This record gives sequence, C-alpha cells and structure tokens, in this order.
Amino acid sequence: MTEAPSVTATAPATIANLGPGFDLLGLALPAPCDRVTARLMGASGVRIASQIGDDGRLPTEAERNTAGIAAMATLRRAGIDVGIELDIDKGMPIGSGLGSSAASAAAAACAVNALIGSPLRRSELVAACVDAEAAVSGRHADNVAPSLLGGLVLVLSVDPLDIVRLPVPEGLLAVVATPDFELETRRAREALPKNVPLTDATFNSGRLAAFVTACFSNDLGLLARAVDDRLHVPARAPLIPGCEDVMQSARDAGALASSISGSGPSVFAFCHGAETSTRVASAMREAFAKAGLDSHAHVGSADSPGARTR
Ligand code: HSE
Repeated sequence: MTEAPSVTATAPATIANLGPGFDLLGLALPAPCDRVTARLMGASGVRIASQIGDDGRLPTEAERNTAGIAAMATLRRAGIDVGIELDIDKGMPIGSGLGSSAASAAAAACAVNALIGSPLRRSELVAACVDAEAAVSGRHADNVAPSLLGGLVLVLSVDPLDIVRLPVPEGLLAVVATPDFELETRRAREALPKNVPLTDATFNSGRLAAFVTACFSNDLGLLARAVDDRLHVPARAPLIPGCEDVMQSARDAGALASSISGSGPSVFAFCHGAETSTRVASAMREAFAKAGLDSHAHVGSADSPGARTR
C-alpha cells in the first residue's frame, strides 16, 4: 500500500513584546521548535491524528487546537477542500511565554500550505495563524509573525495585517530563562490595565522609537536603553515569582537589557558575546532558584529563521 502524501514543518519559539513593544514586537528564537506533519486523507476536513509532548493537556479536537485551527484557516484561505490529518509534536512547554500556541499554528500552516502546493504567501499564512491564536489567547500577531517569518518583526496592525521586518543588530544574542511555572496568556492579559496614564504611553513610545532606531543603526547601547516598559511589565511581574530579581540579575551579569518574554513567565535578556550570555543564563537560573523555581535557559542568535519544511 502506498503512503499518503505528507509534509513535516517546524516552527520556532518566539519572544513577544521585547520590552517596549507590547503586542507589536516579536523575535524568532533558534530553539525550541514545534513540529507538525500534515497528511492527506480521504474525507474532507482537518483531524488531529496524534499529539505528543503536551502531557495530554491540549485539546485534540481540531477546532479547539491552534494547529488544527491554523490548518483549517489555511485551507479556507487557499479555497481548497481536502482532508488533512495532523501529527503534532510539542517541543516547548505550554503557558511559558515562548509563543507555544503560535509555534504549533505556524508549523501546521506551513506544512499544510506546502502539502497543497504552496498557494499562499507567508504573509497570508500569518493571517491564518492569527485566527488560531485569537481562538486560544487573544488576537495578536507578535508571536505568529516571527514564528513564520523568522527574525525580528514589528506588527503595525493585525486587522488588516501590516507587518514590517526589522534588521537584527549584528551579533545580538538572546537568552531566555523558562521557570517550571505556568502562566496562561489569557490570565496574563486579564491582569493588564484597561487604561494607562498618558505619561506611561509617552514613555513607551519613546522606547519603541529608540528600539527601532537601534536596530537600523546597529547601536547596542541605544537598544539597552530602549528595552523598558510601563504598559505590561509592572502588571505582570508580580505574577511571576522572582521576576524583578531575574531581570536585575541578568543586567548585573552583563546583559544589555532584560524583560518578560511575551506574557511570561519566561524572562529574556539581550546580550553581546557568547561568554556573557552563558554567564547571564546562569545568573537568571540562580535568581529563579532563589524564588523556589527550577528553570532552564536557551541561548541563541537573535537572528533566526522561521517556520520551514523538512
Ligand atoms: N503580546 C502578547 C501578550 C504575547 O503580551 O499578551 C503573548 O505571548
């Protein structure tokens, strides 16, 4: 018997917000990645055939699973009605602030699109993944866009989708420390203030402008001053044990800057130099340990590719 045609794609974890860019900035990491295999099946519709790496915690009904929703949205946008089965391999923890739901959606959209002959452009896949993200954690594209496109992106608008790619300063490294502690994006979004003082909006506008300028001018000193926030970090840091200490320890160990990754609980730091980043990773893990949390850390280039088939 011949095997049904299939395509496997991987999509990486991402750091959203990056300090001043709440719901606006996102960056692809080299690892960890989610992997999704899409296979043609006889009947029409999308079905999840298997899901591993989630300890049985994620829904396996396609219409409630980000990979399933992204697969359906990809078929709908392509105007193609075929049957597809998905095998999902979660490579990253859920509710960790690494864009786990976005990575599954991006890998599924990428695999399905390739399986049906690549009718959709990457930007159209981002739109399909935003639908999936909206169903589980809110309508934002700062995880799905970098997970699909790679590198560093600025999301100007979600509806309609308007995404700008930013250059990554040369040699910039990202360290991400992820504690053994789960914080649902939905809950972390509920903690946000409904209104912010004008002075805080002004503060963040300045930092975001400085961030973009630093990227174009390769100015790491300016980048260090730009990664700061008054919109989401003050509301979310208290939800993450040791958060302030972890960020301060990263800076004390030589990081250019540090902030919460996405909606947390992961904390990221920007560094220059491999030695510094290793030292920063240890310092961040030690600070989490002081708050009673085990953690693990990833160090990698801040200029990494997005979803790809293999
Ligand atoms: N921008 C989103 C948030 C990212 O901060 O809620 C979630 O990963």
